[in-house]
Amino acid sequence: MKEMLEQIKREALDALMAAENTQAVEALRVKYLGKKGALTAVLKQMGTLSAEERPVMGQLANDVREALTSSLARRQAQLDAAALDARMQQEALDVTIPGTRPPLGHKHPMTTALDELKDIFIGMGFQIAEGPEIELADYNFTRLNHSAGHPAREWGDTFYMTEDSSVLLRTQTSPIQVHVMEEQSPPIRIIAPGRVYRKDEVDATHSPMFHQVEGLVVDKGITMADLKGTLNQFVEQLYGKGTKTRFRPHHFPFTEPSCEVDVLCHACGGDGCRICKGEGWIELLGAGMVHPKVLSGCGIDTEVYSGFAFGIGVERMAMRRFEITDLRLIFENDMRFLAQF
Ligand code: DAH
Repeated sequence: MKEMLEQIKREALDALMAAENTQAVEALRVKYLGKKGALTAVLKQMGTLSAEERPVMGQLANDVREALTSSLARRQAQLDAAALDARMQQEALDVTIPGTRPPLGHKHPMTTALDELKDIFIGMGFQIAEGPEIELADYNFTRLNHSAGHPAREWGDTFYMTEDSSVLLRTQTSPIQVHVMEEQSPPIRIIAPGRVYRKDEVDATHSPMFHQVEGLVVDKGITMADLKGTLNQFVEQLYGKGTKTRFRPHHFPFTEPSCEVDVLCHACGGDGCRICKGEGWIELLGAGMVHPKVLSGCGIDTEVYSGFAFGIGVERMAMRRFEITDLRLIFENDMRFLAQF
């Protein structure tokens, strides 16, 4: 019996070393340790042994069982480790391989120009205001002192949304002045960038949609000197220290007095060239002292407060800044054009 047990042990251990997978290990466990296994078969013969031999053989059988059990576990662990290794190699991911970069865009030149304007005015303590692009004619015209027969109110000049001409796409950012004065009381110091719409045919210098930046300051004791100082400061920040400006008398319904502000042509220094169209000066914006009718229409006491306002056309500024000669390029979104900025 002793030989049988030792043979079982040897055979089982050899077979185990050759077992290549979990199924083979399990089959060996059944074959040797199972209910109908070889070891059980031997143990069943214990009854035939003498009383002295029985505990000796019992001990030996136990040793063999333990040796087999632990060898089975060890082999299974080896196989598990090998399987894990294989899987790790198969599924290995090299995180150091460079990825494919998505093409990175950048700001549209109009956004760059608008951001520059905003930065300058924010630096002077202005806040950013907004207003609706679909506007009441009342705000766009009437409350800005555009009389009933004003040419800007013509059907041919404005995108009306209703038959009775009461709602329109705003033709200027100036109605934001009225919204702001209705919502805030002085001191007011805002700029309002936004889109405006006019019934213009598209060409190199016209578009039915373009951008303006409106400015409004209302406080006690505001004079034309504040207007000039603020706008000169703005121009110097935009075009460099010492840039010359010219304030020309003009007319706007909502300011009195009104002016247009030109800057000395940076290209020719005033001699006249292609860029300033021979003028020597480049028109930059409209401005003026807010008309008392506009102020009082918004409930502001004109005995106490006064203000100035201005409106800048952003496309023209951006075109000069980036030397763009055709306005259409700004809105066509052709990547070959936009990628140049
Ligand atoms: N809204 C005017 C326009 O579209 C521009 C303008 C001029 C705005 C003078 C102002 C201003 O605030 O004071 O032509």
